[in-house]
Amino acid sequence: MIIRKSQAEIEGMARAGELVSDTLAMIGEELRPGISMLELDRLAESYIRERGGVPTSKGYRGYPATLCISPNAMIVHGIPTDYRAAEGDVVSVDLGITLDGLIADSAYTFGVGEISPEAQQLLDVCQEALVAGIEQARVGNHVADIGHAIQQVVESAGFSVVRSLVGHGVGRAYHEDPQVPNFGEPGNGPELLPGMTLAIEPMINAGAPEVVMHADEWSISSADGSLSAHFEHTGAVTAEGPRVLTAVASGVRT
Ligand code: MF3
Ligand code: CO
Repeated sequence: MIIRKSQAEIEGMARAGELVSDTLAMIGEELRPGISMLELDRLAESYIRERGGVPTSKGYRGYPATLCISPNAMIVHGIPTDYRAAEGDVVSVDLGITLDGLIADSAYTFGVGEISPEAQQLLDVCQEALVAGIEQARVGNHVADIGHAIQQVVESAGFSVVRSLVGHGVGRAYHEDPQVPNFGEPGNGPELLPGMTLAIEPMINAGAPEVVMHADEWSISSADGSLSAHFEHTGAVTAEGPRVLTAVASGVRT
């Protein structure tokens, strides 16, 4: 069942989204060679709690941290460790925040220092795919129009779309219907209606799309060890078109 949100709920999600966006921008500033993933997680958690937010991931199905931090070949759900960022890494940081009972979810993949041209292209294409997907989040379109647009951008650049991980509805729960795959045929899936709120999140690999789950039963990497990127925004379908709820006007966010 897809839960459509009231105008007031969408405004509440936008407030949560602003805090998500601000937190990711802060983490992007801190993410320099030498900082550990655990340090980043602690910084994020205190930043969020000081502002009245609750990290949605922490405790979600037993997940132990505020951030999911997934470096290099890791795609998503990396549990922060004592790994220290190194020059040339690409690091995906994924964050959900609950504020006054409403959730916003966003991810950004940062380059640490100077990164390779191929890595930069992977990040650019993933971000471009996210924008193309959001653009399809319009009344009268269908869910798979989003994935189709994402897939086009990613595959025409020669990269691959991860199939086994998908975007999702979001609102009072972290993961609501519908699933939002990053691939598909135009016109498939549920019709998009005003008030639907979706976390759109392309996860792409430089190599093959297959994934492996690590022994911690959370972190997931590309099976071939190729670099991976992940960008995510929470957006609302409105009569006026797609509204991104996790972007700020200034700073690093799309
Ligand atoms: N923010 C993640 C998502 O995009 C949530 C992962 S669940 C967690 O859906 F518990 F690992 F945080
Ligand atoms: Co999400």
